[in-house]
Amino acid sequence: MSSDDQALTGIIAQQIEDSPQRRIPFAAFMDLALYHPQHGYYGAGNQQLGPTGDFITASHLGSDFGELLADQLAEMWVRLGHPHPFDWVEMGAGQGQLAHHVLGRLKTTHPNCFKAVSCTLIETSPALQAAQKRQLRSWQDQGVPIAWKALADLPPNTWTGCLFSNELVDAFPVHRVTLTDTGLQEQYVGLTPGGDRSFETVLGPLSTSALADYFKWVGIDLAPPRYPLGYTTEVNVAALTWSAAIAERLQRGYVLTIDYGYDAQRYYTPQRTQGTLQCYNRHRHHSDPFYDVGSQDITAHVDFTALINQGKAHGLECLGQRPQALFLMALGLGDLLEALRSIQATDGKTLQAAIQHRNHLQSLINPIGLGQFQVLLQGKGLSPQALSCPLKGFSNPG
Ligand SMILES: C[S@@+](CC[C@H](N)C(=O)[O-])C[C@H]1O[C@@H](n2cnc3c(N)ncnc32)[C@H](O)[C@@H]1O
Repeated sequence: MSSDDQALTGIIAQQIEDSPQRRIPFAAFMDLALYHPQHGYYGAGNQQLGPTGDFITASHLGSDFGELLADQLAEMWVRLGHPHPFDWVEMGAGQGQLAHHVLGRLKTTHPNCFKAVSCTLIETSPALQAAQKRQLRSWQDQGVPIAWKALADLPPNTWTGCLFSNELVDAFPVHRVTLTDTGLQEQYVGLTPGGDRSFETVLGPLSTSALADYFKWVGIDLAPPRYPLGYTTEVNVAALTWSAAIAERLQRGYVLTIDYGYDAQRYYTPQRTQGTLQCYNRHRHHSDPFYDVGSQDITAHVDFTALINQGKAHGLECLGQRPQALFLMALGLGDLLEALRSIQATDGKTLQAAIQHRNHLQSLINPIGLGQFQVLLQGKGLSPQALSCPLKGFSNPG
């Protein structure tokens, strides 16, 4: 265990000892483990993401993902009537590669949209915010407006454009609940007896009525006999707070959310008895959140029904949801694969580059990997004309 991890374990243990019942909700534990500004997994550094870190995301597989997304953005800009500025807001932007790829494509292929674009990045990790600033400095030097903001500081109706996130919502701290013979209970984190500051799970009453309300909200009745005793799952209350906050700040335009997850019926299927919590460390995954605290990512799948319902309640109309593979194919990923097929390799290096490029494209649409991620499109304040036909990413792949 690194000295950072020891410090974090001590901080969490102290919070537990200071709390009245010597336990904190799992969501509070996950929040500290991931986002403590000095020692949390995301707070402490920026080495976690990417091929040399713990996991990769679509933006580490070359520039195609960002470029196809930029084509979609340019179409949104036209549908919105060419607003200037056109807000491109990326929330949880990791190391900033995606924004870099998006701007590159807008500049070369959609120059008028590029001239109108104004970027805002919303990022809670100080280390990743610094990495984003390094990555995007050259664009700022070219005069592209790029600002880092905290969502809470922004007034309602701030943006006209597109609010985007990739693998953000799965990184929000979740509450964990377990069905017992006395009803639904919450999982808390306590300390094992013996004083060695090891963490253990303890059950207790729900810490907030938002948990019971959540299941009503998404139409799930977590009760026996349909659900077995011991059934454990997660509730992403933070996702609801976030969805309401961004809906309020969008004046006119789109919310595009990409993540892994399911609709509520599939998420909370009785057969998924231990939920979806996953921990990532050096490209391996397991389900023990108390292992190497501060050095591993902790995530849970996203309940898209909750995002859709919450969006509707706050003025966001659901315009479409489909797997990432279909979204990217509709945007032209198939044409890129086809073009690679016809490359006449004259030397080994060209051939190797073409093979790697093809592997990256196939990873983006892999039906048991990134391809099964869900892409949710919501909209607000759109004209009947803008709504008259689906955006390219939601049309039938040609
Ligand atoms: C799994 S990473 C995804 C990074 C990037 N989008 C990508 O696809 O490579 C999650 C990102 O969300 C950020 N994050 C987590 N909670 C956040 C919040 N409430 N607001 C903004 N960013 C947040 C993390 O610091 C990190 O940059």
